[in-house]
Amino acid sequence: MTDLKRGLGEAVSAAFAAAGLPAELGRVTPSDRPDLADFQCNGALAAAKQARRDPREIAAGVVERLKTDPRIASVEIAGLGFINIRVSEAALAERAIEIAGDLRLGAGAVETPRRVLVDYGGPNVAKPMHVGHLRSSIIGEAIKRLYRFRGDTVVGDAHFGDWGYQMGLLIGAVCDEDAFVASLVERVNARATPLTAEEEATAFAALAEHISLADLDRLYPQAAARGKEDADYRDRARKLTAELQARKPGHHLLWRHFARVTQVALERDFHAIGVDFDLWKGESDVDHLIPGMVEDLEAKGLLVDDQGARIVRVNRQGDKRELPPLLVVSSEGSAMYGTTDLATILDRKQSFDPEQVLYVVDQRQADHFEIVFRAAYLAGYAEEGSLEHIGFGTMNGTDGKPFKTREGGVLKLHDLIEMTKAKARERLREADLGAGFTEEAFEDVAHKVAVAALKFADLQNFRGTSYVFDLDRFTSFEGKTGPYLLYQAVRVKSLLRKAADEGAEGGPVTIGEPAERELVLLLDAFDQALSEAYERKAPNFIADHAYKLAQAFSRFYAACPILIAEPAVKESRLTLASTTLRQLELALDLLGVATPERM
Ligand code: ARG
Repeated sequence: MTDLKRGLGEAVSAAFAAAGLPAELGRVTPSDRPDLADFQCNGALAAAKQARRDPREIAAGVVERLKTDPRIASVEIAGLGFINIRVSEAALAERAIEIAGDLRLGAGAVETPRRVLVDYGGPNVAKPMHVGHLRSSIIGEAIKRLYRFRGDTVVGDAHFGDWGYQMGLLIGAVCDEDAFVASLVERVNARATPLTAEEEATAFAALAEHISLADLDRLYPQAAARGKEDADYRDRARKLTAELQARKPGHHLLWRHFARVTQVALERDFHAIGVDFDLWKGESDVDHLIPGMVEDLEAKGLLVDDQGARIVRVNRQGDKRELPPLLVVSSEGSAMYGTTDLATILDRKQSFDPEQVLYVVDQRQADHFEIVFRAAYLAGYAEEGSLEHIGFGTMNGTDGKPFKTREGGVLKLHDLIEMTKAKARERLREADLGAGFTEEAFEDVAHKVAVAALKFADLQNFRGTSYVFDLDRFTSFEGKTGPYLLYQAVRVKSLLRKAADEGAEGGPVTIGEPAERELVLLLDAFDQALSEAYERKAPNFIADHAYKLAQAFSRFYAACPILIAEPAVKESRLTLASTTLRQLELALDLLGVATPERM
């Protein structure tokens, strides 16, 4: 199945070739002037330049060859030599029916599916999530869904940050505060034999009584702040980190408790916004690979000493600026952020052997990834070019800095959702939506509106762009927002319910009105939007398509009466409406946004 744009492009290319001109000049694009044409081709101008001929004359030759194409209603030369094409009503109708009958709603698939791993989310044990994690989760989830939909085999991994210096900080802080925990850790460390399963269960139960997620949330920022000022405190935290990594049993027990409580809460919050990881592998999961990896790097002559630390230099000839080396083993003997990242590449190779790994992480980590990737290529752990950092800008406050709460703290995902939901409830009431709903149904809609607001506000921007957090704008039912899209989808649903109540169904499509043309042309453009999003790893192309489709539907709905139209027209319009709804819902689903039934 090809879309109209590609199909016409092939015809125009053939016309160029038949005129003895390069076929690639026949590319067509949606028209800049929808009032005059559906598609245009600018190739005659380029051809004229190359051949030093008159562009209008070249265009005339091409146009002559296109006139007999049944898909084309009119083809004309405009301005300096643009070729303007209007598609025939029959071709539009045929394409609409094709899309209506397609489970993929006109979207193609990749020719050769690949194994792709998406590394996204990246939350950390105990450290609160910041907006970078939120963006990573939203964008990563959309990329994962899109890649899977296009046919690749995709695994999404949270790459839980659970093995760094923050763990040493936290072990110290918790033991300082709670004498029971401190003595438990000491006792376990002093044992000659490991804990039995039963003893372990008892220990975890006791820890659960003493340390909650709220405790970790409270203690971590204090400890982190103190570590910055107090060198002794910092040294102790580093030592505790190294001891944990050496698997001192008491430290390790406490650490597992931290990881557990954090993961349970995170999974719940992520799930609430439609972000679900296939894997929750942590940095710690690759710890056992590190000694062998260090040996291997050594054997390959890549590891060098640097003031007690062991590093891999990654600079290349022709680099414009010097990149720092990869720090593999710190002078205290601990594994670093980059060490676990390198070992994770090995681990993934053994378990899933991905052909491509996409790291959806804040742009500010670009150097980190460049260093890790280069080290991996040098060591032969991954094929050159198979690792890719998908960076993104920040979500900022009105002060232009990464978004913080009014108190200046990091906004917790849970609080962000609650805050957005409160606003969504307000908006729904203002617009007199959800009236007469049960409380449960109203809450469900408010939740969906809130998630749509947050996600769409993010995904409508090219990921590299930073944007300003503006809850008022994000939650509005007007403009380029998630709630607007949900509202349009719900309108179609209610129309279709009404039709079904009357026993009316969709049928063959005929195209008459300009608004119908416009709608079918948009339905036709879906595959292009998905391809572009796929190629550029940029979900904003899907968001954009969804928005344009919703707008086109809105114009169609205003201009073309449906339920009161005569039977054949009614059936045709119902097919257009239900196809639009299915495509819109699919696009939203790829963005990780769910649509309510009613509003
Ligand atoms: N946990 C990291 C952070 O909070 C993000 C992890 C990103 N993924 C990775 N493979 N390094 O900054």
